[in-house]
Amino acid sequence: MTEPTWSADAPPSAPAAPAAPAAPAAPAASVPAAGGARAALLAVRGEVAKAVVGQDAAVTGILICLLARGHVLLEGVPGVAKTLLVRAVAQALSVDTKRVQFTPDLMPGDITGSLIYDTATSQFSFREGPVFTNLLLADEINRTPPKTQASLLEAMEERQVSVDGHPRKLPAPFLVAATQNPVEYEGTYPLPEAQLDRFLLKVVLPIPPRDQEIAIVTRHAAGFDPRDLGAAGIRAVAGPADLAAGAEEVRKVQIAPEVAAYIVDIARATRQSPSLSLGVSPRGATALLATSRAWAWMNGRTFVTPDDVKALAHATLAHRLSLRPEAELEGVGVASVLATAIASVPVPR
Ligand SMILES: Nc1ncnc2c1ncn2[C@@H]1O[C@H](COP(=O)(O)OP(=O)(O)O)[C@@H](O)[C@H]1O
Ligand SMILES: [Mg+2]
Repeated sequence: MTEPTWSADAPPSAPAAPAAPAAPAAPAASVPAAGGARAALLAVRGEVAKAVVGQDAAVTGILICLLARGHVLLEGVPGVAKTLLVRAVAQALSVDTKRVQFTPDLMPGDITGSLIYDTATSQFSFREGPVFTNLLLADEINRTPPKTQASLLEAMEERQVSVDGHPRKLPAPFLVAATQNPVEYEGTYPLPEAQLDRFLLKVVLPIPPRDQEIAIVTRHAAGFDPRDLGAAGIRAVAGPADLAAGAEEVRKVQIAPEVAAYIVDIARATRQSPSLSLGVSPRGATALLATSRAWAWMNGRTFVTPDDVKALAHATLAHRLSLRPEAELEGVGVASVLATAIASVPVPR
């Protein structure tokens, strides 16, 4: 078999062997629901597939972010089912979802909510903005000015919003799936690196291969309506309790000192790369730990392997790197620079 290429087309959808928890090594005070939580969360992928053809890496990426309590960047041209995917995941998890189209005139209050004056009672009351949801699709986040971006990033980090000095807690789970349109940069405000660093991982939704595109068109010919996910037969196979139980288990996944050092050495290798002006920060290294742990748990393990780290390295680290202008001119890509950095680090045995 080949290397575990998580971000390519081979996330172990229903991982062949690992699906049966390999000898649960009786972790102290194990959450009884955990085995059930894993099965339920893995089943989400099958439900989403009833609406979305392919794009498995994106579904897995969202699940990893939910388990690790992070947020996700979705990259892909318009029309590759980013919106459909988030709605389908929400349906399969029986959680609420909202979408905000970011525009140049969007104000922070349009996201967080604002105080409304009620003439009947002569009092101000808070009207919740769209951020009060479970899965928030922040579409084309790079179209809105920094002040509005900042209010979203603050909500992501703190899981609450403060309006008029009053902190208001966001619901749990809370995940932001933000899209950045890679096609046009004209009149946009690309997120600065410091803010990209706050997203746990970035998944790329590619244009589907020919056979999958035919499957998409065939589904539509047979009456599939993306606005009616109920009719697509997506069942709510998991819920917030499974996510909470899963997240708890993920936090118990063991990391051997050599594997922790492997993560750090990969981060350090990016900082030494002559092609990069910005390498992975220590925050990025902790992000790789978090995603590797969630991935290990999804595969039924209680410890992280170097292969887990490798499998998640690109999705977790690539968006945190900046190329030097010289490298950019030479047509070097972030992905190949990162691959070289990873390959330069000896894999612990
Ligand atoms: N992989 C896919 N599976 C199923 N339908 C797809 C897929 N890719 C595109 N489509 C169709 O095209 C539409 C893409 O719309 P949308 O989800 O809004 O894309 P995006 O948010 O990426 O712009 C879907 O509603 C669906 O009808
Ligand atoms: Mg969309």
